[in-house]
Amino acid sequence: MTDEVKQPSSSDTAPTQDNAAALGARVEPSQDQKAAAHAVRQMFSSIAPRYDLLNHVLSLNVDRYWWWRTARRFRHIVRRADAAVLDLCCGTGDMTLALYRQAGIGGASIVGADFAHPMLCRATQKSAGLPLQWVEADALQMPFAAGRFHLVTSAFGFRNLANYDAGLREIHRVLTADGEVAILDFGEPRGLLGKLYRFYFRRVLPAIGSVISGTSGPYAYLPASVARFPKPQEMLSLMQDAGFRQVNYTPYTFGVAGVYWGKK
Ligand SMILES: C[S@@+](CC[C@H](N)C(=O)[O-])C[C@H]1O[C@@H](n2cnc3c(N)ncnc32)[C@H](O)[C@@H]1O
Repeated sequence: MTDEVKQPSSSDTAPTQDNAAALGARVEPSQDQKAAAHAVRQMFSSIAPRYDLLNHVLSLNVDRYWWWRTARRFRHIVRRADAAVLDLCCGTGDMTLALYRQAGIGGASIVGADFAHPMLCRATQKSAGLPLQWVEADALQMPFAAGRFHLVTSAFGFRNLANYDAGLREIHRVLTADGEVAILDFGEPRGLLGKLYRFYFRRVLPAIGSVISGTSGPYAYLPASVARFPKPQEMLSLMQDAGFRQVNYTPYTFGVAGVYWGKK
């Protein structure tokens, strides 16, 4: 535990409803929400030391471009001195740092939140000396007041929530009346590129990931969780159902990734 990481008052992961049928991540098909969230937290805690290296190797460094592009897309908020920005499921903080670079000195105050303590410790180390705040928190039960943030981002994290609807409603709750949301995640490109990509994502990536991380689970889970994630139209409907308006999806890099965005 480092001093810089603030802990929430409620200590453990506790999804609001324990409904195994809810649309959300499952590490094992039979898991209920609580077990799924616990397994996700364990998984990211276990790979934290190698997470950054693996990310850059497996994405051929394109991840840096995706974070930068997403942060730049929201610079109208990030550059405002009066704005508060939350990077949810921040992991080791790369999206958070991309937001900070866009904000510059005198920009928004930026908070990164995640429930895997070892990931936050890495984020704290990487951001030493920068005015970023790190909070250990469950995305489904955040320790933040309603209406606190002008922008909530989540990069490659939202897909891992055990209940997508509950996650969207919680993001909606912590946003200001005109707040905006940006959810960056993997997509599934179509056509020939899609075939090549699926081969890489389902065969090559788990093999390399297992060798570098020393464990096979997370890199088998990754393609399975992307396949299970709602397709763009369904995700946009979920966002609307949770109360977001002007929702839209911008694919990146031929649809390998993309950002869902909308307003409260
Ligand atoms: C794939 S990593 C992404 C990290 C970072 N945003 C990035 O772009 O590299 C997913 C992160 O989501 C976090 N996460 C998953 N479910 C969460 C939850 N319910 N509450 C908070 N964090 C969660 C994990 O701990 C992990 O750090």
